[in-house]
Amino acid sequence: MRTSTTAPRTDDAADPIRGADIARRAQIFNEHNLDLYRDQVDQAADAVTAAVRRAKRVHSGVRPSELAPVFEAVDLDDACGDMPEALAELRRLYLDHAVYFHHPRYAAHLNCPVLVPSIAAEVVLSAINSSLDTWDQSAGGTFIEQKLIAWTAERAGLGAAADGVFTSGGTQSNLMAMLLMRDAWCAREYGHGTVQKQGLPAEASRLRVFVSEVSHFSLSKAAALLGLGHDAVVSVPCDAAKRMDTAALADAIAQCRADGNIPVAVAATCGTTDFGSVDDMNAIGAICRAEKLWMHVDAAYGCGLLVSNRHGHKLAGIEHADSLTVDYHKAFFQPVSCSAFIVNNGAALGLITHHADYLNPAEAAAAGTPDQVNKSLQTTKRFDALKLWLTLRTIGADAIGDAFDGAVALARGTYELMLAEPRLELLHRPELSTIVFRYRPCLTTSEAELDELNATVRAQLARDGEAMIAGTKVDGRRYLKFTLLNPATTVEQMREIVDLILTYGMANDRSVQQIAAAPAANRAYRRHA
Ligand SMILES: Cc1ncc(COP(=O)(O)O)c(C=O)c1O
Repeated sequence: MRTSTTAPRTDDAADPIRGADIARRAQIFNEHNLDLYRDQVDQAADAVTAAVRRAKRVHSGVRPSELAPVFEAVDLDDACGDMPEALAELRRLYLDHAVYFHHPRYAAHLNCPVLVPSIAAEVVLSAINSSLDTWDQSAGGTFIEQKLIAWTAERAGLGAAADGVFTSGGTQSNLMAMLLMRDAWCAREYGHGTVQKQGLPAEASRLRVFVSEVSHFSLSKAAALLGLGHDAVVSVPCDAAKRMDTAALADAIAQCRADGNIPVAVAATCGTTDFGSVDDMNAIGAICRAEKLWMHVDAAYGCGLLVSNRHGHKLAGIEHADSLTVDYHKAFFQPVSCSAFIVNNGAALGLITHHADYLNPAEAAAAGTPDQVNKSLQTTKRFDALKLWLTLRTIGADAIGDAFDGAVALARGTYELMLAEPRLELLHRPELSTIVFRYRPCLTTSEAELDELNATVRAQLARDGEAMIAGTKVDGRRYLKFTLLNPATTVEQMREIVDLILTYGMANDRSVQQIAAAPAANRAYRRHA
């Protein structure tokens, strides 16, 4: 343990000269340090500019075992001393090895290149450091968040009573959805606040929420966290387009009741993580209304359709949602974190309200003080809304929609070129901007060998920093995945990644190697076979 060599002074704060000196040394952001502030922000921006200019590859390909020793050498008790030194160190530790989402060879996960106005907003929100839990910590920031929630709800066709909050991401939004599904049912059965006070009733173990078999895992995780257990989440099969099979949903609900369990909700997905598929929200809405079930729509990815200028029709039925997850940090090109959870009936958020005398007393709410913490799982909360706000006020929603549409068009174009290649097996036609596929040589290879081959191709692409693509499993088999969110990437650039996949696939294909090693006569026979 490190011990301080100087005795603490209790009178420092009372001494204005020492206080100013401490603030200067600690580089506290205030009116005296504005030159320092501008200088350091400029230096940080310069470091980023230089890093992006240097980043010819999507990633250096560094392995954890190679980078770990560099970090071990850093002594956090021994400061670099100034920003240039700290940034030079950061270059070695991070910037030289970061995975660059703006790079045309990035095609892995749901990470987007970010819009410049949203980065400018980060500069503002970090400096002012508003916390969006109470009005008295954020003032106009609260109205910015509320206006964006109302705007998003209106785009989704939710009613005038809709309300919500910004969250840390889709996982937190889905957790809130699962919480409200559970507690809305409990409130109906046992009265408002009973579950909050007494915990879960015995019947909770029989509550069931229906999701498609390709829904996001955060819903299952949320069920476990909320004491419902993974078994509370019923996986409904999909049709060929990877949309929840609504006939199977109706059957599953009937079976659930027959088994003595209690259906409470259906979580539709608008843009599944792997396939980008959009569940039939009209059909699911009708089932939910008939069965009196809560309807959640996880539009973490598909929310880009809310601003799309070409594909908005795919949102048909989203207006039936009781709750909605939207990730602006996926399909609105905002820096992480920037997400929201919205309910059609704002009163439902009262299920998570907790008043603390020192923060958000009940009297403040009664007097109409707009404290976002009353609707949030978080207390201290970043002013992430400002990023979307400054983006909308600078470039407007259509520009974001064009960017999303550009990514969808890129996926279509890439799919077309991949269709022409017999060694690629494509699992679906892209609905949004993902493509799930695998390298499959023309000669027969076992499923196990295909798994290994595809895993090797992906690892080799990443190792060389040549391209970042994702992997997933479908029916237990390994597949490769492109997730495309960069409208600046061209189909030609995607062709280069496809060519690399074919090259690595061929190089690691055992059947090709066996033929190469076979006697000449055998090779000739196979050529003519
Ligand atoms: C459909 C879907 N829902 C929820 C999430 C979780 O979002 P987050 O990573 O922002 O927590 C994801 C993430 O990829 C997703 O694809």
